[in-house]
Amino acid sequence: MKVVVIKQYGGAEVLKIIDTEIPSVGTGDILVNVKASSVNPVDWKVRKGMLRFLPGQKFPKMLGGDLSGEVVEVGQDVSGFRAGDEVYGMISAVKGGAYAEYAIVTNNQIVHKPTTISFTEAAAISLAALTAYQSLVRLGKLEAGETVCVNGCSGGVGHFAVQIAKALGANVTGICSTKNIDFAKELGADTVLDYKAVDNILETSKKYDIFLDAVANQSYFNVLKALNRGGRYITTLPSISVILSTFFKIFSSKRGKIIAIRINSEDLRFLSELIKSNKLKVNIDKVYDMEDIQDAHRHSETGRVVGKLAVRID
Ligand SMILES: NC(=O)c1ccc[n+]([C@@H]2O[C@H](COP(=O)([O-])OP(=O)(O)OC[C@H]3O[C@@H](n4cnc5c(N)ncnc54)[C@H](OP(=O)(O)O)[C@@H]3O)[C@@H](O)[C@H]2O)c1
Repeated sequence: MKVVVIKQYGGAEVLKIIDTEIPSVGTGDILVNVKASSVNPVDWKVRKGMLRFLPGQKFPKMLGGDLSGEVVEVGQDVSGFRAGDEVYGMISAVKGGAYAEYAIVTNNQIVHKPTTISFTEAAAISLAALTAYQSLVRLGKLEAGETVCVNGCSGGVGHFAVQIAKALGANVTGICSTKNIDFAKELGADTVLDYKAVDNILETSKKYDIFLDAVANQSYFNVLKALNRGGRYITTLPSISVILSTFFKIFSSKRGKIIAIRINSEDLRFLSELIKSNKLKVNIDKVYDMEDIQDAHRHSETGRVVGKLAVRID
């Protein structure tokens, strides 16, 4: 099978396609013929060696977390899936292996693909949408009627967060650049703030119950004044300010939290229900062929992706 690997850390040029054996199926494994994957920023962070302190970094190293495809074979202990099922989900993006013609998954990492979406669309959902959902619901304990601000509302995580927060009954403010204002409104944002148009995006009279920082360019202390009593600042990247915020717990009802995505089929099934009821859509900015994976990484690294980048494998 063809698989994208790196044999050293570096720029996009270190991404190579090689031929290797199709992995064998263990008793709890599911072998998927991958139809599509997507690029998430974590993929090029792994490629650059920014996460080299984490386990599973031996060369040649596979990349990619998101996938969609067709089940080819299931191990004897697997229930709920059989050959021919159309599925989507994710494996650990740090470990990698989704930029490949075949991948081994477990039944907690995939769900059946809604028939209303293509393999390309399905492949672009899991990592970013799970991050958005788990930030708002698992960490943020979002309740209907609350006010949510999504910083970076036009990116992978952000565009899912706006739609999920709206679906759960929140009033949503999105922060993006001028060119993405219409896109943010189409996603359902009640208010859109243009960070290019003001010096300090937090210098408004608006206050929020949840501030989801998908850009991670704010800090808990910057956002404090924009949080209601009991408000939650949630960031997608580790931050000193959030760690320090734990010391302020006794003085303030406002909390700082860092999301660490957990692969979880229960949450994926919730996302599938939103997709089926037309409350959640993925915006595919561009589809790349596997052969053009270097260009796909370069595009993601610009930080200007609107929604998601998909990778056609099949
Ligand atoms: N902790 C976790 O488990 C976890 C999970 C997923 C992702 N992440 C991290 O979360 C971050 C976001 O991921 P992503 O997939 O959403 O990235 P992405 O798709 O690359 O985000 C791109 C978006 O960021 C927006 N943006 C850039 N600068 C901005 C600014 N100053 N203010 C507001 N928006 C800005 C861009 O909009 P404009 O072009 O309009 O500026 C663009 O639409 C990454 O660092 C990723 O590694 C962490």
